[in-house]
Amino acid sequence: ANSSFVHQIVDESVRPEDIAKDPFEALTTAKAPSGLVHPSQIFGGERVNSKGWDLTDDGVLAEIDAARNVSLPKARPLTVSEPSGTAQPVTNPATGEKIGEVIEADKATVEAALSDARTWSAPATERADVLRRVADLYEANYGVLFAILAQEAGKSLPDAVGEVREAVDFLRYYAQEGENDTRAPRGIFTAISPWNFPLAIFTGQISAALMAGNAVLAKPAEQTPIVATKAVELMHEAGVPREVLQLLPGRGPTVGAALTSDPRVKGVVFTGSTDTAQRINRTMAEHLDPGTPLIAETGGLNAMIVDSTALSEQAVRDVVASAFQSAGQRCSALRCLYLQEDSAPQVIEMIKGAMDQLTVGNPWALSTDVGPVIDREARDEIAGYVAQKANSILHRIEAPTEGTFVAPTLLKVNGINDLEREIFGPVLHVATFKARDLDKIVTEINARGFGLTFGLHTRIDERVQSISDAIHVGNIYVNRNQIGAVVGSQPFGGEGLSGTGPKAGGPLYLNRFFAPEPGLAEA
Ligand code: NAD
Ligand code: ALA
Repeated sequence: ANSSFVHQIVDESVRPEDIAKDPFEALTTAKAPSGLVHPSQIFGGERVNSKGWDLTDDGVLAEIDAARNVSLPKARPLTVSEPSGTAQPVTNPATGEKIGEVIEADKATVEAALSDARTWSAPATERADVLRRVADLYEANYGVLFAILAQEAGKSLPDAVGEVREAVDFLRYYAQEGENDTRAPRGIFTAISPWNFPLAIFTGQISAALMAGNAVLAKPAEQTPIVATKAVELMHEAGVPREVLQLLPGRGPTVGAALTSDPRVKGVVFTGSTDTAQRINRTMAEHLDPGTPLIAETGGLNAMIVDSTALSEQAVRDVVASAFQSAGQRCSALRCLYLQEDSAPQVIEMIKGAMDQLTVGNPWALSTDVGPVIDREARDEIAGYVAQKANSILHRIEAPTEGTFVAPTLLKVNGINDLEREIFGPVLHVATFKARDLDKIVTEINARGFGLTFGLHTRIDERVQSISDAIHVGNIYVNRNQIGAVVGSQPFGGEGLSGTGPKAGGPLYLNRFFAPEPGLAEA
């Protein structure tokens, strides 16, 4: 376990406005078991979170409708020197149609960006004001941001609301955390982000690095360069100097590798798969100064235990949201559900019924619960996995055959050891257990080495405490769903193979972006 993780038990922490907007109504009504603290009691202070957008409000719907045909920005390097590179198509996963192009940065563009990069000399209070202006601009541009997220990343509208809101939250939270900090930046920070939160995680990494005064070179995921371009355009418009923040779209093995192997780079913040993080770690060890920080948030094999004291209706709602919302493409998503055997047959029937209520389809339709997966490669990999497990399918619902949709699927397993790897899509594995084997299951989950999220549904207070003490994960969710950590209330991050810490959206995160103070050991 990594000592820089703040363990936190989360209960009853989704904001009230989420109830109306969450298509899965993924909010528990359970009372917090005694002995647990409400997240707001942990950090206190004024809440800075974005209010989000009400998808039943006529004004919001009109704005979204107007954004339907908006022309998308051309994705390209946003650098100080004139960039060069090759054009690649960007496609809509729901339709397979080309929606634009991206100019991927070539070697000369990356080299020029490295030499043009400058740290941000403005005082911290000024940097915070600029980040707050970016947040305001994101909020003002929500229609176009939703349109890009739906078309480029296949985000459903409720997911797009959550995504823009989380991005805004990161900007305001880090501004608040850092505005009185007088520490010095490290220098050039490389920020490498995934396609599954192409605005929120992209913005979270960049805003933390900027708040600490670093120069940032941002490389978005190959699949989502348009939203990254729009975001950086808005950051520049808000007043982030161009030499302080440059965007370098491109491939991981070329642009990403160059930005993690150049000795001018003094820190790397990465979110993506565990394999890629390990590769970057090796590259950095070979080429960069010893002690250059790698802040990595990676994959998970997340489990939930539901015992027979749990409220089954609530557990089922939370299971379905945790496994299938965002088409299962959240690092936090539930992959392996353990049901106590005496209530399991009934709960499985209820899960099947709840799955039948899901609508899989066009992300831009308000009725859609589950959109497409990110691309053909992902669809084929997940479909191939399910085909191999055909004898274990307990339930599967309909999904469109055009585009990159994957039908939400329930598979029977004996336990987490039957999962070979993280399947990044709407596939839920379910196992049953006897009460006397609970400790064994916790040991089994820990032994896989990942440690991102864990869910527990029970009404036995002592069990909450003992399992929370024993399980090795970053975020534990009790009697609620296990996705959608809220910036400032629920710092998010894993341990073991799931990340290095510190947790994003929490009070320790900015520390790693500052240069260590003379005479003090690194956190
Ligand atoms: P990925 O590792 O394939 O790619 C992530 C980023 O790394 C992309 O920008 C990619 O271009 C870049 N990259 C790839 N090879 C590289 C290299 N050699 N050098 C430098 N950069 C390189 O991951 P993905 O498919 O985009 O995202 C899905 C994964 O991300 C899942 O495993 C998921 O669990 C994880 N994830 C984790 C979190 C978290 O907070 N823990 C959040 C979201 C996603
Ligand atoms: N922060 C995202 C979640 O909690 C990954 O689902």
